[in-house]
Amino acid sequence: MNLKQMVGEKAAEYVKDGMVVGLGTGSTAYYMVEAVGRMVQEGMSIIGVTTSSQTTEQAEKLGIPLRSVDEVDVIDLTIDGADEISRDFQGTKGGGGALLFEKIVADYSKKVIWIVDESKMVEELGAFPLPVEVMPYGSLQLFRIFEKKGYKPAYRLDENGEKFVTDGGHLLIDLAMGTIEKPHELASWLDSLTGVVEHGLFLDRVNTVIVGYPEGPKVLEAR
Ligand code: 5RP
Repeated sequence: MNLKQMVGEKAAEYVKDGMVVGLGTGSTAYYMVEAVGRMVQEGMSIIGVTTSSQTTEQAEKLGIPLRSVDEVDVIDLTIDGADEISRDFQGTKGGGGALLFEKIVADYSKKVIWIVDESKMVEELGAFPLPVEVMPYGSLQLFRIFEKKGYKPAYRLDENGEKFVTDGGHLLIDLAMGTIEKPHELASWLDSLTGVVEHGLFLDRVNTVIVGYPEGPKVLEAR
């Protein structure tokens, strides 16, 4: 079994009858959604809240009953992937382009679990490009600001070489930061820029991380 499948299936064990469950996006979350789909087919009653059109399509095929984030009071548990997780449980997300909806769903969740293979556990964030979701109007001005800061911005492109458009209708600018020494400062700065809709820094947002190692999954509780 590959490590992504291992942690996806392990995380699905946290889903219990009657829960409202946030369903993450990406190649790791895929396995969790498949496992939850099997549980529903075997009779478990849950409501899913998806974080992307990609996950909605998968969940619908599996017969998982879905509601939008606005149609539920609270989400009991959200399970999602991550691109990097530092030693102090800060994370970056958005490699799959779904960071805005993922952050909204996480913010209305009582508990958040991230599922990753061992390669995602890092000392410091920043080696993986940090996505910033921006309004198309004025995005080149933001691009220039990032360039001047030395963040080596690049517009995310789709498979046709066109600018990638998110489920929210925005663009993504990926920043090649190298190392993010002060994630909270960077997040506040990004939040202050007009036209930035969201960014991939997910700080102080996770409760439990399940890491896949060849010898088995390890469950880490964030402090
Ligand atoms: C999508 C995400 C994903 O959860 C993240 O990119 C990890 O993806 P994968 O499990 O495919 O490596 O944030 O926006």
